[in-house]
Amino acid sequence: MDDPREAGRLEKKVNGSEVVDKYLRKHIDDLQGAKVLEAGCGPGVFLRVLANLYPGFSITGVDISGHRIEQANLKLSGLKNAVAIQADIYKLPFPDDHFDFIYSRFLFEYLQYPVAAAKELYRVCKPGGKLLLQDLDSQFTFYPELGAQLKNMLQILKQRTGFDPDIGRKLFSVGKLAGFSFADIESEMYHKVMGQIDEFNLGLWNLKLDIALNGTSFISAEQAGKLKAEMLRSLLDENTVMFSNLFTLTYKKCRPGSAFVN
Ligand SMILES: C[S@@+](CC[C@H](N)C(=O)[O-])C[C@H]1O[C@@H](n2cnc3c(N)ncnc32)[C@H](O)[C@@H]1O
Repeated sequence: MDDPREAGRLEKKVNGSEVVDKYLRKHIDDLQGAKVLEAGCGPGVFLRVLANLYPGFSITGVDISGHRIEQANLKLSGLKNAVAIQADIYKLPFPDDHFDFIYSRFLFEYLQYPVAAAKELYRVCKPGGKLLLQDLDSQFTFYPELGAQLKNMLQILKQRTGFDPDIGRKLFSVGKLAGFSFADIESEMYHKVMGQIDEFNLGLWNLKLDIALNGTSFISAEQAGKLKAEMLRSLLDENTVMFSNLFTLTYKKCRPGSAFVN
């Protein structure tokens, strides 16, 4: 999805300070001069908040999309303690045992090989450092249920791209298989639509579906149009309930020879 509209969509749907305050600060407030990495940083909304909050930290973001890295670096201009680098999570340009805190939000749902990606995060995490993974589960849960055609399309999307609408529940084992010690898991409702969706969020869904379906090689433009219309119709139905679950997991990379106590 290297569509130039995606960076703007990602920015519109998130309040960077709220996310940093709610999920990240408790893990880093006590650190001094920490090195922090965001994997899949998109347009850099959280990097900027962190760089301003922690002038003594070194903040790095990586993303595979050149356009999003450009957007992120524009946002970071003038901030000496933060940088965004174009890189693939499977092959990060950092030495072993480098970062004190690593987080990744809404990236793992797009990865074909989540354990391999988490192993790369394990490699670059310092012994004693922490990882926070945040991603969605049960995406596109609708009542009344979506039609068979849309469900089928999601299945094809998963097979062809690795997109996993249920990655949230799998992160527990993904982190452990990569070598991390499990620390905590939380789940909350996300994407909550109860009854007819409001105009702002309808606009964001409209754009998301356009970007996701635009130029897909495995369905025709006509099919894509029909699927988009079906989804938007459901979101406008006054009886629809739609939600996803947001999972937030934290892990620790143990120091050699130490036993992790939760
Ligand atoms: C949905 S966005 C999330 C952006 C940001 N973390 C947020 O929460 O708003 C997912 C990001 O992951 C990036 N991405 C996808 N595959 C990647 C990979 N293999 N390595 C690094 N980044 C990747 C995409 O380019 C995209 O910017």
